[in-house]
Amino acid sequence: MAGDRAHQDLIDPFGRHIKDLRISITDRCNFRCTYCMPEDGLEWLDRSQVMSFEEMEHLARIFVERYGVQGIRLTGGEPTVRAHLPALVRKLAKLEHSGGPIDLSMTTNGATLRSMAPRLRKAGLKRVNISLDTLDREKFHRMTRRDELDNVLDGIAAAQEAGFRPVKINAVIERGVNDDEIVDLAEFGRERNVEVRFIEFMPLDADGHWVNDTVVGQDEMVEMINAVYPIEVMPARGAAPADRFRYLDRDPSEPGGKIGIIPTVTKPFCGDCDRVRLTSDGDFRTCLFATKEFDLLTALRAGETDDQIAARIEAAVATKWAGHKINQVSFTRPTKSMSQIGG
Ligand code: GTP
Ligand code: 5AD
Ligand code: SF4
Repeated sequence: MAGDRAHQDLIDPFGRHIKDLRISITDRCNFRCTYCMPEDGLEWLDRSQVMSFEEMEHLARIFVERYGVQGIRLTGGEPTVRAHLPALVRKLAKLEHSGGPIDLSMTTNGATLRSMAPRLRKAGLKRVNISLDTLDREKFHRMTRRDELDNVLDGIAAAQEAGFRPVKINAVIERGVNDDEIVDLAEFGRERNVEVRFIEFMPLDADGHWVNDTVVGQDEMVEMINAVYPIEVMPARGAAPADRFRYLDRDPSEPGGKIGIIPTVTKPFCGDCDRVRLTSDGDFRTCLFATKEFDLLTALRAGETDDQIAARIEAAVATKWAGHKINQVSFTRPTKSMSQIGG
């Protein structure tokens, strides 16, 4: 069985081993979060440009079986708007790297989880991260341009009921917009037993309104939470983007016993990055902020062999840079926005 074969490590020029693949399965979304998409949406890809489930499975298999990639995260746009999603999950859940089954997860806005969570869980999805930036209905409407707060809260409960664990909450914090809710969101995590991750706003919004002053940095967030619920940093983040902090009065093995902060701007974590990405149109990206893409779908559709596609992947990984340059004058935004890259 190919899954038993010893894999070959995919290593970039800085010695980082690639272990995690994020696949954006659609560029479409049912929300229009102001930190991500413009009000009128973006020009959607034509169906023929988007990878089929078979094409995604084919490329994912190369990453998992050949290179020992251990985790696959499905992203969007909003992944749940893709029809027949459980069928894709079933296919990917069968993939095995040399050490066993993959860590198959999804990042979603959560609005449809009440109906979808049980089917996705049954299909083999292991974890979900759900976006929730505010607990205030009006503000939720303003931030996502959709009046869906109740559905998202219900979706979070549905994910827990379906057995996903941990359920993590992603809150993008923007100064002057929802920074007054940092402690309330932390409280929500403690009460509902979910791990809340506070995300520094990144310059990937399609509207282009990001400026440095809109970023609330990790230290400031820690200070605000610590003043009400004392926390301490947990060791060893590994390759994950979130720094984690435990509540001194809680059990950190419980999802609600800790928080995460994703400090892209004030404390870049690129040195430990183990991630690569595929966009829904089959472009391979070696960084969230990459300005160059490698078209694997055209190669696959042209009938290239797995060895030929693998050679393209290796050539691309050889270009992975040390890290993003958000804090430098030479920073250039990628032409694709967050919703087209998948976060
Ligand atoms: P876990 O496996 O649960 O740790 O998930 P994750 O945090 O890697 O994934 P998720 O999709 O929930 O992303 C949370 C936030 O981290 C989003 O804002 C992502 O854009 C951001 N993120 C994920 N990977 C990277 C990365 O490589 N670099 C940067 N700067 N941000 C990232
Ligand atoms: N900055 C930081 N995080 C963002 N996300 C979307 N846009 C941005 C941005 N500009 C987050 C979403 C979602 C994840 C995929 O990316 O909240 O949780
Ligand atoms: Fe959609 Fe997610 Fe972007 Fe919001 S952050 S518009 S939910 S893709």
